[in-house]
Amino acid sequence: MPSLEHHDTIRAVAWDAGILRLLDQRRLPFIETYLQCRCADDVAVAIRDLAVRGAPAIGIAAAWGVVLAARRGETFAAAIATLRAARPTAVNLQWALDRMHTRVAEGADADMLEREAQAIQAEDLAANRRMGELGAALLAPGSGVLTHCNTGSLATAGFGTALGVIRAGFACGKIVHVYAGETRPWLQGARLTMWELQRDGIPATLIADSAAAHLMKTRSNTAGAVQWVIVGADRIAANGDTANKIGTCQLAICARHHGVKFMVVAPSSTCDASTPSGDRIEIELRDPDELLSMAGQRTVVSGAQAWNPVFDVTPHSLIDAIVTERGVIERPDAARLRAVLGA
Ligand code: MRU
Repeated sequence: MPSLEHHDTIRAVAWDAGILRLLDQRRLPFIETYLQCRCADDVAVAIRDLAVRGAPAIGIAAAWGVVLAARRGETFAAAIATLRAARPTAVNLQWALDRMHTRVAEGADADMLEREAQAIQAEDLAANRRMGELGAALLAPGSGVLTHCNTGSLATAGFGTALGVIRAGFACGKIVHVYAGETRPWLQGARLTMWELQRDGIPATLIADSAAAHLMKTRSNTAGAVQWVIVGADRIAANGDTANKIGTCQLAICARHHGVKFMVVAPSSTCDASTPSGDRIEIELRDPDELLSMAGQRTVVSGAQAWNPVFDVTPHSLIDAIVTERGVIERPDAARLRAVLGA
């Protein structure tokens, strides 16, 4: 694998002498500014309001929120409960808080909790590098791919999950072109993924979310067009059903219809063996106002209603491969997931 250092330059979550600094993703791509979180409540608000977002990144930020609570002498139970309630769908948030809670219950002091948060962050970066290698190995040279939402350095400790596979695939010549869906209503694809890809010099084309079926239909047989859809995940149930950004399921349906392969890339911290199938995953509903306006400008007639679920569930039968740092699960089902991930 060629050197990937110049593909790993962004850090969205940084611990800096007792303060958690979060790259404010609401203001990207035009303004690069950091929020400073000094208590667990600051972190919970940043997660809820999407200043930090992406399943692994919110887990890491929440772990640092527990460290802030320890440093300030806050009540752990209250701090953890507030952080836990910030967003419901990404299991990484619960996973990281469970891990910190276990250390608290063992009597860990603030220094020990700081080391645990650092370990969570370092393990995520290492997992992303490994998944990059494993995912890129599935691709044929000269491939084009379509991705959705943002799964890059901004959404993780660094490098990214699906975007990590894209980075690794580009570095070794497997990927020659990337299409990114804009990801209405919050525009993670347009604002964040295009920013990351352009910084890395990876050839990328933005499409409207509604152009995906047409892209697959007209270009799936063209060299450098779309042979794979590669996405991340917020929670993978025990049978492989996968919750991810709203619009992912329709991409999987289109991909199967057009003979395009569908890959999910996520660390084992996103896999939730206690949720048997996708219909048991809570889907976050956000404020309808996110749909009724754009860039602060109302676009819909006043009095109109909107429904704003921000994740959906792709059935495991539509997924060709789930890539984790522990291995690749092809044609995933409960038995195949257990074989790679354990119980
Ligand atoms: O609402 P967001 O921006 O937090 O949603 C993010 C996604 O859906 C990502 O695809 C997922 O968290 C994986 S990020 C590595």
